[in-house]
Amino acid sequence: MREINGKTQICGLIGKPVEHTLSPVIHNYLAKSEGRNLVYVPFLVEDVKIKEAVEGAFALNMLGLNVTVPHKSSIMLHLKEVDKLAKDIGAVNTLVRMEEGYKGYNTDMPGLLRAMQSENIAIKGELVVILGAGGAARAVALMCAREGAEAVYLLNRSLEKAKAVAAEVNYIHGQSIITPMKVTDYKKLPQRKCLAIQATSVGLHPNVDDVIISDEDFYKKVHTGVDLIYNPYTTKFMKLVQGFGGQTMNGLKMLLYQGIIAYELWNKVTISEAVAQEILMKMKKELKIDG
Ligand code: ATR
Repeated sequence: MREINGKTQICGLIGKPVEHTLSPVIHNYLAKSEGRNLVYVPFLVEDVKIKEAVEGAFALNMLGLNVTVPHKSSIMLHLKEVDKLAKDIGAVNTLVRMEEGYKGYNTDMPGLLRAMQSENIAIKGELVVILGAGGAARAVALMCAREGAEAVYLLNRSLEKAKAVAAEVNYIHGQSIITPMKVTDYKKLPQRKCLAIQATSVGLHPNVDDVIISDEDFYKKVHTGVDLIYNPYTTKFMKLVQGFGGQTMNGLKMLLYQGIIAYELWNKVTISEAVAQEILMKMKKELKIDG
């Protein structure tokens, strides 16, 4: 345990629930490896207390905060400033201290991008199929548009929701690149191999045998499958992609890099890939994952 003294800086996570978070593992490891006098702690914050939490953290001179469910959009009302990307995504997961208040950022999407880059998964020029139309899928759709995907199909159980998200993202991006589709219409996708990104909660522990599309024909067309879920470590979706020779990635590296980017914003440093790998090992140990 590092010594806590008069110069110790505090960062933390606000959300509900927070008790299973891996973020303290990421940030306390980073602080330790950098020899930085900083500690990171979780704070359980009720919906109705979000304003007080932000004001209280600022008054207590806290350096920065991460924000998780259910506060990622409601928190925006209580910030001094919100970064353009976070506004476009519609969610803030990181608060950075400024002179007169906190500025909100979104490091989830840049975190996913950095995770995919670390696995050599390209978006530019790709046919991308996104499964889901919730907040996570919306952010992924925007990322794919910005990163130069050739075409993006947004498949969802509710077509209405897919249509609404596609329209919003196309408007923000200034180009009609996202096509909404009902998930059961996957046979109508272009006849070309795609990058598929699973952004629903289907398959999440304990429902590990669930998958949003079970037809093997779909997986024959997937050259790479990214699942935002990391518990289980290998989802049913990933197993199906692997079964047809596709490359896979789960959501653990996204979690890792969103944390690293937040830490970089707070401390104005750049974290090396070697340190990122060390933290990943530590996260896997925490989750009791071998290898
Ligand atoms: P988040 O903000 O984390 O992305 P969300 O907004 O609750 O979460 O979105 C969940 C996504 O998972 C939605 O796309 C949802 O589909 P609907 O819009 O049709 O509800 C999808 N989803 C959740 N459970 C599902 C299920 N059993 N079958 C198909 N899709 C499901």
